[in-house]
Formats: sequence, C-alpha cells, structure tokens
Amino acid sequence: MLNKIALIGGGNIGGLLAVGIAQRRLAKSIALVDVKGPDLAVGKTLDIAEGLPIISSDVELHGSKEYDVIDGAEMVINTAGVPRTTRPDGTIPTREELLQTNLKITDAVSEGIRKFCPEAVIISVANPLDAIVYRLHMNLNPPRERLLGMAGVLDSARYRYFVAQEAGVSVENVEALVMGGHGDDMIPIRSACRVAGMPVERFVSPARLDAIEARTRKAGGEVVKLLGVGSAFVSPAWSALEMAEAIIFDKKKIMAASTLLQGEYGVKDLFIGVPVVLGRRGMEKIIQMELTEEESVQFRKSVESVQKTADEVVAMVGTPA
Ligand code: NAI
Ligand code: 2OP
Repeated sequence: MLNKIALIGGGNIGGLLAVGIAQRRLAKSIALVDVKGPDLAVGKTLDIAEGLPIISSDVELHGSKEYDVIDGAEMVINTAGVPRTTRPDGTIPTREELLQTNLKITDAVSEGIRKFCPEAVIISVANPLDAIVYRLHMNLNPPRERLLGMAGVLDSARYRYFVAQEAGVSVENVEALVMGGHGDDMIPIRSACRVAGMPVERFVSPARLDAIEARTRKAGGEVVKLLGVGSAFVSPAWSALEMAEAIIFDKKKIMAASTLLQGEYGVKDLFIGVPVVLGRRGMEKIIQMELTEEESVQFRKSVESVQKTADEVVAMVGTPA
C-alpha cells in the first residue's frame, strides 16, 4: 500500500480510479485535482468518502482545484484531457485531433507534478496517449522507469474479450497482447494469443481473427459512437488500476505499456506500447518479443504514425514548458 496516490483529472476515468483505489486499498490517501467548476474534485471525493463506511475503507480523500493537494504523492495517474466525443455530424475525431487541447492541459499537469511530487511514478492515460506521455517526458524528463502510458492493457483486454466471445470460453482462458501506438494501427499479436495455453487458431478461424483484430483496432471509436458523449471509461480505469497494482505490490507482472524505447525494437527516443515488466520501480524491464514478418511490418508502420504525432508535438510546442 502506498501513502498517497494523486489523480489528475476527476472526470469519468479519474472518478472510477478513486473508487477503485479505495476498494482495492492501494493507498492510505487519495488526492484528486480537477480544474472544473464549481468544484468537481471536492464533490467527487466527498461522494466517495460518504460511502466509505459501506465498503469498510478508511482511505483519506482530498479533492481540490489546486495542485498543492498532490504534494508528496508517490504515484500519479493522469487522466486530465478532453476525451473523443461524437461531432454533430456523427463523425468522431481521431485521438490525434485532441492533441492541441490536451498538450496545453499536459503542460499544466507537468507543472503540478514538477512542483509537488517530482519523484512519483507516473501512469498517463490522456489521449493521444503516446504523444501526451512524450510531452510529459519532454517536460519532466524522469528516469524512464517512472513514466508510463496506459493503453496496451486496455487494447489487449479488448482483444481477449472478443476472442473469448468467439471461442465460447472464459475470458480468463485468453492471453493476448496488443503492441504499438494507441491508434488505429495498433497491432494485436496473433502469434502470442493463446487459449488455455494453446494457439488461438485452434479455436478461432483466420478469417474471424482478421475481423476481431480489425474490431480491436477500432474498439475505442466503436464505444465513442455508441455513447454519443465521451469515450470508454470503465475498462480504461480498470486497466490503469491493473498497472498501478502491479507496481504497488511489486508483482513483476508483464503487460503492454507505452514506454520510452532506447534502441529496443529498433526504435529510439519514442514512447510506444511494448511488453514490459511492472514492479516497485515502475517499468523494470522491456521484453523483446519475437514477431512474425507481418507483425514486424505492422509494428514499423505504427512506429511511423507515433513518430509523426511526436514530431507534431515538437512542432507545436518547440521546447519543454
Ligand atoms: P473526462 O472529460 O470525463 O475527464 C477529464 C477531466 O480532466 C475533466 O474533468 C477535466 O476538467 C479535467 N481537466 C482538464 N484540464 C485539467 C487540468 N489542467 N488539471 C486537472 N484536470 C483537468 O474524460 P475521461 O473520459 O475521464 O478521459 C480522460 C482522458 O483519457 C481523455 O483524454 C481520453 O481521451 C483518454 N482516454 C484514454 C484511454 C487510453 O486507453 N489511454 C482510454 C479512454 C480515454
Ligand atoms: C479508447 O481507446 C478513446 O482511447 C480511447 O477507448
């Protein structure tokens, strides 16, 4: 259990994170900061606090519009940023279109972290995922172990769910991994997908797997269209909690996360989703996977897309804030 976790952004995902941290007893104290009025962070934390007797939790909750509430936190989960939402004409913006707005928010978030908890392990969730983590890195430059983006856990969970449904087996039987950027060219790694330890192809035909993988790549957008307002938030919150729990309890658990590559997979100075070991120090190790030729080609394509957005970040903001 940590002494203090800071949640930056108290909207849909941030609110569920506070609930999940209280239920899972991940920290003695939760600090939630959100700039939305009249006082969203105070309202959310009060609502959760008033329910604590029911879940028998003595966690302390503090909400504020001011960043000093996160002072001394050992872990930060950042969800501050606008989500994708359906436009009046029915189309939805890409995650990259959120970039301009969310970069400004990220600079405020960076300032808060720099001032009040510069030693914290940071799990960032805001979109466009890999570019926002890159901006946090530009601003804060922490050791790479301490800065991670959450997307791979969610994208892999979606792939696992679709495979389990198709195969008619428990979700617990399906192991899968999605790599690359958190965009439409992410790569569900079929060669690593197993059903109760057996190759997925024994349970699902190649044609159905093609369809499942295409659906996985667009799964975030599918939910955005259905909701009408905002984007998925339950599965993203559970995914970030999964990462937080692995770090807090030093589980040495392997999961996909956006991490700073320094030559691994032939990529340098870019955040992108790869399998990593999560433990007390944060990202403790990058796992180098064997990819098929086709998967390697797809990975390189995804790297190009993420690099393009990272270049846009640099073009928009120039130097660190
Ligand atoms: P939301 O709109 O419900 O909450 C975001 C909150 O951030 C708002 O309450 C807003 O007031 C707050 N905020 C804005 N500027 C702030 C600042 N400077 N400091 C503190 N708080 C600030 O959105 P939701 O659904 O919680 O999503 C949050 C982000 O996560 C979005 O960017 C969304 O696209 C992204 N997302 C990422 C996923 C992933 O797999 N990485 C999955 C789903 C969403
Ligand atoms: C998702 O994948 C929109 O990134 C968000 O649900």
